[in-house]
Amino acid sequence: MNRIIDLRSDTFSLPDEGMRRAIRDAEVGNSGFREDPSVRKLEEACAAFFGLEAAVFLPSGTMAGQIALNVRSRPGDLVAIEENGHNLRFEAGSMALVSGTQALTVRGDRGIMDPGRVRTAVTSARDHGARVSCIVLENTSNFGGGTIYPREVLEGMFRLSGELGIPVHVDGARIWNALAATGEEPGSLIPQGGSVSACLSKGLGAPMGSILAGSDGFVEEARRVQQLLGGVMRQVGFMAAAGLYALRNNLGRLREDHARCRRIAERLTDCAELEIDLAAVQTNILYLRIRAGEAAAEDLRIRMAREGILAFRVGDRIRLVTYLNLDDGDCERAADTIASLLRERRA
Ligand SMILES: Cc1ncc(COP(=O)(O)O)c(C=O)c1O
Repeated sequence: MNRIIDLRSDTFSLPDEGMRRAIRDAEVGNSGFREDPSVRKLEEACAAFFGLEAAVFLPSGTMAGQIALNVRSRPGDLVAIEENGHNLRFEAGSMALVSGTQALTVRGDRGIMDPGRVRTAVTSARDHGARVSCIVLENTSNFGGGTIYPREVLEGMFRLSGELGIPVHVDGARIWNALAATGEEPGSLIPQGGSVSACLSKGLGAPMGSILAGSDGFVEEARRVQQLLGGVMRQVGFMAAAGLYALRNNLGRLREDHARCRRIAERLTDCAELEIDLAAVQTNILYLRIRAGEAAAEDLRIRMAREGILAFRVGDRIRLVTYLNLDDGDCERAADTIASLLRERRA
């Protein structure tokens, strides 16, 4: 039996030997009292990495993002967010329940919002008495297919944020992929007065944890909300050490994941049953739209699973995500299997 190739998500990434050693050898303390040296080291390293004043280590990307929105908002506020943004669509209604906020949805192009559309949405909401507390930029965009905010769009968004006096929160669950793909300076992806949440548990391969970074005042308030949500952890330096290891060892290699993702896409472009938006394949996520619709997509997903190729279905699309435990051979086998399963149905 061939080994299982799991392309469902980069959250399936597993720690390697080096990371396991770093976890075992971590110096730890009570992080709830800010006395865990490894957590402090990770927080300081991440704040410096993004050119921000402070950072806090949190259990998950969901908690990091929702804390950011809570710090910015009062109940009843609107949060401007792309219509398929993770904070809105995939976090169990947290925006409403945790912070009493509503979404001011903006249609994106492959998940990327245009500053003009955000301006229109915000001004018309304001004309009717709404307070817009925050603009969320998801970079890279998960639902959009791992797409990256282009530099000129980012600059436009940062200008708009300054002009409207509305802070930006960057949902940077996969900001590392954007950085690896573009080679840009980390600090250049976050505007003045903004904040960023970034996951260590996805492409970077740590078992858990996310960072939320911003100004000293923002992070102090974030720590209060962390307490309120029960997100304060204790000897969690073990996990922070994994995060530090990931930052040292697994950042540059993300480009390999991107190249493999692209190769899968290119190998499948000839399949008439699939619609592949090659321009959207910018990092480690690939969506295959099954032209015959949702039932055919589910049928393909099930038949792939029988061949040991696991993928995630979203409506009529099948999502494939590459990450550090998958090599060239795995990705070739995945693409060949999909192509041959499609051929079988044709015959
Ligand atoms: C864009 C984005 N934001 C936030 C999250 C939430 O991260 P977590 O699963 O650690 O809660 C995810 C998870 O996939 C994501 O893709």
